[in-house]
Amino acid sequence: MENRETWSGNFGFIMATIGSAIGLGNVWKFPYITGMNGGGAFVIVYIVCVLLLGVPVMICEMNIGRKTGLNAYGAYKRLELRRSRIGRFIAAGLILGGLCLIGAGSYGFGTVSVIAGLIVLKLGFAAFGLLAIFGALAILSYYAVVGGWIVDYMFRSFSGNLNYSDVASAGEAFGKLTESPWRVSLFYVLFMVLCGAMLVGGVRNGIEKWSKILMPLLFFLLIAVIVRSVTLPGSWPGVKFFLEPDFSKLTAGGILMALGQCFYSLSLGMGITVTYGSYMRKNQDIFAASFWVMVLDTLAAVLAGLAIFPAVFAMGFNPGDGPSLIFKILPATFNHFPGGTGWLWGGLFFLMLTIGAVTSGVALLQNGVSFFQDQLKWSRMRSIAVCFCGVTLFGFLSSLSVANWKHIPAVKTLIGKMFGAEHVPGSFFDMLDNLTSNWMLPIGGMVICLFVGWVWTARKAARELRLGASKSSPDVNLISLLAGFLGEPMYKTTRDHGLTLISLWAIIIRFFAPVVIFLIFLRAVGVNIGF
Ligand code: PFF
Repeated sequence: MENRETWSGNFGFIMATIGSAIGLGNVWKFPYITGMNGGGAFVIVYIVCVLLLGVPVMICEMNIGRKTGLNAYGAYKRLELRRSRIGRFIAAGLILGGLCLIGAGSYGFGTVSVIAGLIVLKLGFAAFGLLAIFGALAILSYYAVVGGWIVDYMFRSFSGNLNYSDVASAGEAFGKLTESPWRVSLFYVLFMVLCGAMLVGGVRNGIEKWSKILMPLLFFLLIAVIVRSVTLPGSWPGVKFFLEPDFSKLTAGGILMALGQCFYSLSLGMGITVTYGSYMRKNQDIFAASFWVMVLDTLAAVLAGLAIFPAVFAMGFNPGDGPSLIFKILPATFNHFPGGTGWLWGGLFFLMLTIGAVTSGVALLQNGVSFFQDQLKWSRMRSIAVCFCGVTLFGFLSSLSVANWKHIPAVKTLIGKMFGAEHVPGSFFDMLDNLTSNWMLPIGGMVICLFVGWVWTARKAARELRLGASKSSPDVNLISLLAGFLGEPMYKTTRDHGLTLISLWAIIIRFFAPVVIFLIFLRAVGVNIGF
């Protein structure tokens, strides 16, 4: 561990971490869900979610990473000194739940639940570390497929071949692309090569060096596209559509989307920030770093909307109602830019998106790489080679099945047999997206809060958090009690004091976040919780 690399300083760490956070989630997902859910009203809800859940979970991840200097699996293993009661409780729940499912005839899900329970019983919380690491590699396998489309669009735009006069023809071309598996696979592999190449130099000379160049470039490109977009005649309705609050459009479903999006956008729940935190130094301020990551990630998402909607409205298009925005509506929009400059603006936009996606892909890959380096003591190059090849091979299942299961019917039959035909969605790609975004991220976020708040204990976590942080003020007794700090010598006094950032954080991760995330999770998997 003495030889573990570190970031060169705060700037490098923050650039690398926003590299992991800013990606397709900001530029592709955020604008269209905001457009669908009441514009500014959604942005407000999103910011509340980020402050109350996103930032506290991010702090937990950075904290256990820095404390142990290990990947998520190693960190859980090192900090769970003896098998915790909570871990055993979760294991029992999984096993009993699984048996009930089997009793009810749901053999596939039941068996998975029982096996998961047995693994948790054996490994404790480290089992969730494994889930996070392999889950992140699974995310990369389909994220890279979308990344491949983006690279394809960038090349086509710069070479003047992304010229569709209307949304229908752009849509047709996009449909053709997703149904030509080999073309998709070619760009998908290219995207993976870009991610792998950035890792070769290591943490400081690879990830950090590239992020320090690429993140400022991303913001620069974003601002350039915004300036072009809002100065087009007729762009104002686009700004209003995106940002004017319409609370009547905000539903319970929209609030849940804001919660899910906050985890996705900040790359939480998959151990990535644990890994990035493990390269931090003790004199770095975790509170301050997570604050900046949150601000810059949210800013990038809002700026992306301001780059997209004004242009769409100015060119007389309708923003549509979902994911088609980037791949169908935008190409047609750029094509109508004045003076035939659409190829340039489109190219710059897709270049910006490529940068965001690749730096997120790098983080997902590094998460796996650090696992093999730390746990199996493999060399960096060997770990990169294994993760790269494993993910690329697995990802063919997604790249070959973006539109349907036509090219991998046997996999469809197998999954249908195991879990019931009604659980086989449109494609393997959709299935993986749903499994990771709706299940694994919330599970990962909830588990890390329970672990830091109750197993490692908030007291010890707070001690680590104070290293490198500017001095926090003492706490009132009741608050200290709720926060679980009571035995700490510095909280023995009965002096009056207010709620501090650090105790607020501890209360959130011990009570608020696990409960709220559990409820979101229940709702996301279809349990009726009354709204
Ligand atoms: N945060 C990335 C984005 O917004 O595109 C995506 C992502 C990366 C999600 C890593 C989850 C994750 F674990």
